[in-house]
Amino acid sequence: MEFRDVTFSYQDENVLQGINLSAKRGDVIALVGPSGAGKTTLVSLISRFYDVTGGAVLIDGHDVRNVRLTDLLRQVALVDQETTLFNDTIANNIRYGKPDASDAEVEAAARAAFAHDFIVDLLPEGYATNIGDRGVRLSGGQRQRLCIARAILKDAPILILDEATSALDTESEQMVQQALENLMANRTTFVIAHRLSTIYRADRIVVLENGVIRESGTHGELLEANGLYRKLYDMQFKE
Ligand SMILES: Nc1ncnc2c1ncn2[C@@H]1O[C@H](COP(=O)(O)OP(=O)(O)OP(=O)(O)O)[C@@H](O)[C@H]1O
Ligand SMILES: [Mg+2]
Repeated sequence: MEFRDVTFSYQDENVLQGINLSAKRGDVIALVGPSGAGKTTLVSLISRFYDVTGGAVLIDGHDVRNVRLTDLLRQVALVDQETTLFNDTIANNIRYGKPDASDAEVEAAARAAFAHDFIVDLLPEGYATNIGDRGVRLSGGQRQRLCIARAILKDAPILILDEATSALDTESEQMVQQALENLMANRTTFVIAHRLSTIYRADRIVVLENGVIRESGTHGELLEANGLYRKLYDMQFKE
């Protein structure tokens, strides 16, 4: 997966410029930077939510603009803050990641996402519970774990993770973190990172500012460089 000299603008002004970034399977790339830096825009170019205005985004050497959209969408899974769930059963919400999945596959994905226990223990009809039913109240962490189960089932080689800024309770947080570990294994992950634990874990941290890559490296390297990352870290992340 590669961004090759990518430029992008929504209107006239460039929102991304001169982006060169490549990642292999198994890599976790954390994107950090001030609000408006272009993090969400950058990842939205992978699945062609928008197209580059210059340069190219390549997957396995193929320009994404030359890949059939259905094939492209199969290669990318997204777990974001909104966690889109449909007015349907729990099972079908997970199965959305792979429409022909068996019940056993759905359950295996839910287990890997740390969602199985709450599904069978807390929901009146288990996997057959309709999410839209009155009385079914899912916490933020539970919704996220369903979304992670869906992504695990989809088993796409590229994972885009837009981490929630809002804090989960500690137990939920730990389960979401574990579920994400299971999900990230063996894929290329781009994570818009807000959690320190994700940042520590990343193979590479890419620091964006005003649409350009200011710095990249590991947490230790970037702290030592004493640049923008260090400032962001001192402001946002340090606990
Ligand atoms: N749909 C859009 N149309 C026009 N401009 C946009 C659009 N989406 C984002 N922008 C602009 O592009 C720039 C980058 O926005 P982007 O959402 O990628 O930033 P970000 O790094 O994800 O910020 P945040 O941390 O707040 O989520 C900003 O100046 C933003 O105002
Ligand atoms: Mg964003």
